Amino acid sequence: MRETEADRAGGTAEPVFRARGVTKVYEMGEVKVHALRGVDLDLFSGELVVLLGPSGSGKSTLLNILGGLDTATSGTVVYCGKELTRATDRELTEYRRRHVGFVFQFYNLIPSLTALENVSVVTDIAASPMRPEEALGLVGLADRLNHFPAQLSGGEQQRVAIARPLQNGRP
Ligand SMILES: Nc1ncnc2c1ncn2[C@@H]1O[C@H](COP(=O)(O)OP(=O)(O)OP(=O)(O)O)[C@@H](O)[C@H]1O
Ligand SMILES: [Mg+2]
Repeated sequence: MRETEADRAGGTAEPVFRARGVTKVYEMGEVKVHALRGVDLDLFSGELVVLLGPSGSGKSTLLNILGGLDTATSGTVVYCGKELTRATDRELTEYRRRHVGFVFQFYNLIPSLTALENVSVVTDIAASPMRPEEALGLVGLADRLNHFPAQLSGGEQQRVAIARPLQNGRP
């Protein structure tokens, strides 16, 4: 479903994500780090959104919460009408598996697996996966399938990390 600007202006479109008053406090012993202080955000179907901000401003923290990888300290996040902030661990696992495609800032490739195997890890659990060879072909790595991460350039490692969620993340 794609909403138009007119839909949005008329207030008829429901956001895919609705975040309200999201906070995240990391406790470091005595010290508390306020990574997010009351984030309100609506994201609509078909939007391409860029999250910009200085290093340390909380971008990864927010994405981790929207992606079900971490939980908020307070506030609510609703995805397609379901409140992620009330979901159990099991429900969050299911949510990530079915709906989330995540390219990690530090790639998170498994060093002992080849490029093909690193992508297959996702293919094995996705509902309707693309073949891992195809996903790697789309990022220009068809001739690097059997390389381990240490045998790939930084950009190639990044592209393996991009190939992984290509197979998932359809809402
Ligand atoms: N696990 C953690 N424990 C404690 N503090 C943390 C933790 N993760 C992040 N922080 C702190 O929270 C703040 C937000 O971090 P975050 O990683 O969300 O920033 P970012 O906007 O993604 O930065 P960058 O652009 O450098 O990736 C930073 O000040 C960081 O030091
Ligand atoms: Mg970050």
